[in-house]
Amino acid sequence: MEDLKRKTDELKKRKNAVILAHNYQIEEVQLIADYLGDSLELSKIASRINNKMIVFAGVKFMAETAKILSPEKRVLLPRLDAGCPMADMITEDELIELKQEHKKAKVVTYVNSSVGIKAESDVCCTSANAVSVVKNIEADEVIFVPDRNLGTYVQKMVPEKRMILFEGYCYVHNKIKKEEIEEMRDIYPEAEFLVHPEARMEVINLSDKVFSTSGMLKYAKESNKKQFVIITEQGLIERLKRENPEKEFYPAKRPKICSNMKRTALIDIYDSLKKDQYEINIEESILKRAYNALNKMLKYI
Ligand code: 13P
Ligand code: SF4
Repeated sequence: MEDLKRKTDELKKRKNAVILAHNYQIEEVQLIADYLGDSLELSKIASRINNKMIVFAGVKFMAETAKILSPEKRVLLPRLDAGCPMADMITEDELIELKQEHKKAKVVTYVNSSVGIKAESDVCCTSANAVSVVKNIEADEVIFVPDRNLGTYVQKMVPEKRMILFEGYCYVHNKIKKEEIEEMRDIYPEAEFLVHPEARMEVINLSDKVFSTSGMLKYAKESNKKQFVIITEQGLIERLKRENPEKEFYPAKRPKICSNMKRTALIDIYDSLKKDQYEINIEESILKRAYNALNKMLKYI
């Protein structure tokens, strides 16, 4: 493993590449990354770094977002089969139909979406800034796609806007049940419960704080509490434990695993750098329209 790590580092330097990894990645990938973060942090980094190449350890929409924000760079996704099922739940035709039905509404699109959907949108958002984007957009009506759970949470936080939601969801967060939270409360009465807004509202309502993955990291680091129940994907819990060895972190009953996020291993990153695979290419006219929606998001916050 050390040998592979060293070879990957050498290749990375030779190619002037940077490795970005999402908080859900497996530990060996988290440890080789130059930057580790949530979707918003990684988007911001992708838009400002000077390296010629980005290797994105995450899922496809994240690598595409990096390419859209930094089209002059080569962006590589080490595993072609690392997708996000939620991003594929809405088609462009479905969004166009919604826009025709609600002509006055603006479209706010969660970054967990395809390039084509972003191109049809007014602005993008991540879990870290969805509330602020919807609050600040100049429209009374908002079409929010594709995550109905995140949309329901945002609607609760921004009651002055009328939100039209699409029925997409994350299969990992959506299956978390309120009974799991109730059981964990009985077992850990002193713990603070931190939840990702992709969970269902009945689960969010039983939790203490709602955060993006990096929001949870920041909060847990700064909090005086010693015990936390982390209601999101398991990869984040590993990072939390590594960076806060004096605190305790538990999943909601059983670990929640996103198989797509677990596909990338260190060897895939090495192969990616060695063979320049798999490069993200986006047709220029779609890229420009998707860029407008993503760039607007970065200006909102
Ligand atoms: P974050 O942006 O909060 O890291 O979430 C990304 C994601 O895919 C959650 O399932
Ligand atoms: Fe997509 Fe859910 Fe996996 Fe995040 S955890 S990448 S939303 S499937």
